[in-house]
Amino acid sequence: MSKNKLLVVSLLVAVTMVVSATVSMAAPITIKFSHVVAENTPKGQMANKFKDLVAERLGGKVVVEVFPNSQLFGDNKVLEAMLLGDVHLAAPSLSQFNKYTKSLQIFDLPFLFEDMVAVEKFQQGPIGQKLLMSMKSKGLVGLGYLHNGMKQLSASDQLRVPEDASGKKFRIMSSDVLAAQFEAVDALPLKKPFSEVFTLLQTKAIDGQENTWSNIFSKKFYEVQPYITESNHGVLDYLVITSAEFWMDLPDDIRPVVKKALDEAIVFGNEVSEKKAIADRQKIIDSGRSKVITLSKDERKQWVEAMKPVWKKFEDEIGKEYIEAAVQSNM
Ligand code: LMR
Repeated sequence: MSKNKLLVVSLLVAVTMVVSATVSMAAPITIKFSHVVAENTPKGQMANKFKDLVAERLGGKVVVEVFPNSQLFGDNKVLEAMLLGDVHLAAPSLSQFNKYTKSLQIFDLPFLFEDMVAVEKFQQGPIGQKLLMSMKSKGLVGLGYLHNGMKQLSASDQLRVPEDASGKKFRIMSSDVLAAQFEAVDALPLKKPFSEVFTLLQTKAIDGQENTWSNIFSKKFYEVQPYITESNHGVLDYLVITSAEFWMDLPDDIRPVVKKALDEAIVFGNEVSEKKAIADRQKIIDSGRSKVITLSKDERKQWVEAMKPVWKKFEDEIGKEYIEAAVQSNM
């Protein structure tokens, strides 16, 4: 072999060694998953399940880091952070996307869905699936819906009829529909992050809030709210979201495995949500700290009549045909 050829071969060998060393040492892809609730909730458990499934199937290649309890970002900041690449997955409630799309406001309309079966039917139907992509032009992609459950009204006083809410301050998520819902009963809605709710209630800076049984239980709202009206007046579900850029940058052999793990984690989270809605309600009753108020048929009708005009107000922004399809999902 000539001197030159020998040099070329040695160089090639050296390059190959460096390349294979780099490949075998390649840092794993990190998926940061940020959320605001406790770990012992449907979302908390879903996120941890996703982390475990990814570790099992893609160990060494992909690592999921879960940040619960607003440790990393609150829902008011997480989407901006996602677009900047500082976090990769989140599952904000469907009420938190106002800035990016008006269509998802449909999920906040009071008394639209009769139960979680109707919610599931709508989400898995053609419109629900289309809504997953409603923020694509803004760089955000919905990967799936996750249930939490129906919302209840907690307060410092008994709420039996809409007049009982008049003049009272209620914390709401960042949603204009939810603001209109409370204004419809002459109450005062205040948009505040989830992480502040307990203190606001404890210090009596606000009178009440709306949330699911698992959130009321896991964040101890029931300890500082003597009454919970079992109103089931709306749904609190989540959109598991990522940035289009991050998602498309995942290697082609990795993305489907991550998606499958996520789909399975969502199925698991939905099972948790169903069980917790029953179990956490019972734990609250058993605690004796908060009285659960059951509405009579007539009382409930009054809430429906007071709040339902909100639909009309948002019909143009949301789309009449979407609302009609949601109503159909109750059939
Ligand atoms: C809330 O802010 O009340 C909820 O969105 C919290 C959550 O993520 O369940």
